[in-house]
Amino acid sequence: MTTRQQFRLETASTHYVVSTVDGSVVLDYWGPRTSAVPMWSESDRVISLATQDDLRPLEFATQGQRHTAFSELRIERPTGITGARWSLREDRTEATPHALTLEFHGEDMELSLMWRTSPDHDVIRRWVRVTNSGSDAVFLPRALSAGWNVGLQAPIRYLSGSWGREFQSQQLTLPPGEFTIGARHGVTSANFSPVVHVGHASDTGSAYGVALAWSGSWVTHVVSSTVGLPLRISPGFSDESVVTLRPGETYTAPESLGTYSGNGLNGVTDSWHAYQALEVSRSRAPVHRPIVYNSWYATTFDVSVQQQLTLAARAAELGVDTFVLDDGWFRGRTTDTAGLGDWEADPIKFPDGLGQLAEGVKSLGLDFGLWIEPECVNPDSDLYRAHPDWVYRAGPRPLELIRNQYVLDLGRDDVKQWMLDTLRQLLSTVAISYLKWDMNRPVTDGGRPGDPLSRQWSLQHTRNLYEIWATLREEFPGVVVEGCAAGGSRIDNAVLALTDVVWPSDEVGPRDRLEIQHGFLSAYPSWTMSSWVCDVDGLDDRRPVSFEYRFAVAMSGVLGIGADLSEWGPTEIKRGAELIRRYRDLRPIIHTGIVRRHGDPREPLYCLEFGQGHADDRTVAFVFDTDRDRNRDRTAPRVLLTTLRPGVTYRVEETGEETDRASAATRGVRVPFGLAVDVDILTLVPTA
Ligand code: DGJ
Repeated sequence: MTTRQQFRLETASTHYVVSTVDGSVVLDYWGPRTSAVPMWSESDRVISLATQDDLRPLEFATQGQRHTAFSELRIERPTGITGARWSLREDRTEATPHALTLEFHGEDMELSLMWRTSPDHDVIRRWVRVTNSGSDAVFLPRALSAGWNVGLQAPIRYLSGSWGREFQSQQLTLPPGEFTIGARHGVTSANFSPVVHVGHASDTGSAYGVALAWSGSWVTHVVSSTVGLPLRISPGFSDESVVTLRPGETYTAPESLGTYSGNGLNGVTDSWHAYQALEVSRSRAPVHRPIVYNSWYATTFDVSVQQQLTLAARAAELGVDTFVLDDGWFRGRTTDTAGLGDWEADPIKFPDGLGQLAEGVKSLGLDFGLWIEPECVNPDSDLYRAHPDWVYRAGPRPLELIRNQYVLDLGRDDVKQWMLDTLRQLLSTVAISYLKWDMNRPVTDGGRPGDPLSRQWSLQHTRNLYEIWATLREEFPGVVVEGCAAGGSRIDNAVLALTDVVWPSDEVGPRDRLEIQHGFLSAYPSWTMSSWVCDVDGLDDRRPVSFEYRFAVAMSGVLGIGADLSEWGPTEIKRGAELIRRYRDLRPIIHTGIVRRHGDPREPLYCLEFGQGHADDRTVAFVFDTDRDRNRDRTAPRVLLTTLRPGVTYRVEETGEETDRASAATRGVRVPFGLAVDVDILTLVPTA
């Protein structure tokens, strides 16, 4: 047995402590900062008929090292010998308070475990690297990113959904057993978001969060053991795919993220938001995304230069920054049955090319943006006719059409090159400063016949997509990218890092949208949450709301307008312009403040509070009422606010009421519903 070594990682307010034992690493401690942590010892394990590694809280487990408990890594060889045992390469250890790398070797494999963090936030990033150092190919039917040991028996919270109903908050108490979420779609999917929270209460007590920064097929296993091990959360690349490593090849797993908070589940949310502002955002300084007008809901596929310019003129009167032309602009695109793949302006709709519209929009003082869906192709397109072999297919099996389209095999070099060339051509010939990148179907029959490596098609597709996004960001740094996938089917920490803003859902009915945004904000930040004021009903909740209610829902993220502005009269334009000015004023606090979600959007009073921003010392509360016909003569609605700074007196601008941290959190502040009968926006300003 080698000497045991302990390593302590320091985050802004927590410690994460691991130690080596034999060829393994165990978790000694994960919680608030502490002075001394004893190393995990064999006496800490429960009595059971199993090997020691099956009963240790391993940081990463390999089958063959473990035999009966869950393992993150499975290895198969042509010899039929599976798994591995590891020995630490002590000379390769790299350890600082914010970074740890431990390397191991097995019979024919190398394994590196990585932990990274920062003194500026409380998130730890973890991933692994596996190298085939033998002389035969090996197969990894499961190669996850990390095992996170969570020593807390508490409900598990996660986000599930479907198209138009993304980010619904769920919770379960897991008895001994396994719970799995994930996606086989080749995209993150609307079905589950790659984030798991564990905790009892909103504001107090220990709580943990584990996420995966990956946008292809994925899985997260949550294992509650029968033998007293901590809860184990293991996220990573889908274990229904197989990674092949030829001799000398290395697999690097996607990053997983973990965080601890002593301030309950809200503390975990704060921690994600702080990390995203510092490490995921393109720049550390808050950069506000443009206020867009997007004409999709107004005109769908039926676009023309004059009609788009008329809408753009209205949008300019409102005071937006960017006019975005959505689907429907390219060759042959009159419905969703044709044109995807042929990324040139439709000669009938745009006889002089897109430049005429882009210039017209510019002359109105707006930037110009464009929609694109480069990963997909309609069978009725010149691209498909020229390259039928470019789409994912399972040999001679009939192809699966979804929304009348197929998915291009982005794992192929020629497809990747074509996509880059197409984007470069578009962005360098038209003055485009905003690109909405859509993807409207899951991958089916992924891979390519005859290529043994294609069982990892989702890895290839996603990595190549990341490479394209990174290249475009480098070559066209001024272009803002909006990530979209049939609404919110591709949102995760990796997408947030490579795009500027994301479209969480095609549900634009304001009451339903509020519920989606409630879930979104538990794991992802407001400054990425694109939200438009539209004039359509919700798919579920069709109760009418005021004009201002629609605005307030959108103003609590990245405001945009998607309504048919040809239907808006001077009153709406004037009121809309006022609300846009109000949003511009409040935006620094909405985008840099901590977020508190008070209540449930379906309850009578729901409040979204933003406070203590580093760019603004005000607090803003958006208060939504489910019942616009409520008779308030008998009640004077109040909301409790919890982000006020201690020792500071605040004045509520809308009512003149003075309050402070204690009073706002216990007595609350009065909501006059002065903005509209069903919504109010309160601004609390420090008096001194
Ligand atoms: C799905 C997106 O989510 C919508 O916003 C819109 O861009 C359509 N695709 C266009 O086809």
